[in-house]
Amino acid sequence: MSKRNTVIDLFCGCGGLSQGFIDAGYKISLGIDKWKDAIETFNFNHKDSKGIVADLLELNPVTVSENEKIDEVDVIIGGPPCQGFSIAGKRIIEDERNQLYKTFVNFVEHFKPKAFLMENVPNIMSMGKGAIRNQIIKDFENLGYKVSHQILLASDYGVPQNRKRAFFVGLKNGSEFKFPIPTTTNNKVTSEEAISDLTEHTVNDGTPYMHKYKSSFQKQMRNGNKFIFNHQITEHKEKTIEIIAMVPDGGNYKNLPKELHETRKVNIAWTRLNSQKPSFTIDTGHRHHFHYEFNRVPTVRESARIQSFPDDFIFQCSKTSQYKQVGNAVPPVLAKVLAETIKNYL
Ligand SMILES: C[S@@+](CC[C@H](N)C(=O)[O-])C[C@H]1O[C@@H](n2cnc3c(N)ncnc32)[C@H](O)[C@@H]1O
Repeated sequence: MSKRNTVIDLFCGCGGLSQGFIDAGYKISLGIDKWKDAIETFNFNHKDSKGIVADLLELNPVTVSENEKIDEVDVIIGGPPCQGFSIAGKRIIEDERNQLYKTFVNFVEHFKPKAFLMENVPNIMSMGKGAIRNQIIKDFENLGYKVSHQILLASDYGVPQNRKRAFFVGLKNGSEFKFPIPTTTNNKVTSEEAISDLTEHTVNDGTPYMHKYKSSFQKQMRNGNKFIFNHQITEHKEKTIEIIAMVPDGGNYKNLPKELHETRKVNIAWTRLNSQKPSFTIDTGHRHHFHYEFNRVPTVRESARIQSFPDDFIFQCSKTSQYKQVGNAVPPVLAKVLAETIKNYL
């Protein structure tokens, strides 16, 4: 059997990005995140990997190599939170807010993987009129990597969600990485195709599916699995149910009588999924987005489907925490396409 490529996932969360790499045949040697709940889910689902709870501001790669006995790693992946980037002129300032990004750079410098994949919010490309993006490229070029970058739309790659994310891929062998060509631009997976086999009401963990799958995406997510997990509905107040019942499939607060427009002070309020389109970007559980048909927010399982997590990926800890873990993740199906493409260069 050929040796699997090894990966370290930094800021791994519950492991959406890792899941895609596992599905593409990689071995995740190590996942690191400071959030205990996310690591609990990571370890529950990635039995062949090791997730550790640690603050990456305080952990250096030398200690990781020694403690975890990792000398070699083929790929380093991860999404360091970079919202607080600050720059002076064209340089990223070495202040605390940028240290998490610097940690990612330090890991690449220490382990010298054949490739790295860094994920981030799309506006990282335009921050400081592109200065941040250019500095990121330069930092990795200084370590000997050829860097490509692109913003990808998840729904172009078989994910039922219009989620955009920025990706940087670096290759040590000097090849230029070409991002995967979109596969589903003209036949996007819709919200209905994603979740229509899941019931209106709560299903206890471990209950067999009530319906047969109704789309090829549902079949793909079930992946031979027989039981439902994380499908406990949110019980809304009577008033909330009354209001959302007035919003049609794909509608929002504009479909409500004028006097109700201001009931929630955000412009994304009272939005229903559109059954015939991919979902908008799901959040971390703010409860503003509702099911296209049922008068409730999507369950954790429905959100996980929209993120393309397979049904046998089971989220741990409280429901609030589960929504956050799901909403934070890179969609595994998109991650898998990237992982497969990277493999061609290793
Ligand atoms: C966007 S989420 C990562 C999602 C993950 N890539 C996935 O696909 O599931 C960012 C993660 O960074 C973690 N994080 C933030 N600051 C950190 C730190 N100082 N040390 C370790 N992890 C940190 C958060 O707990 C969060 O889980």
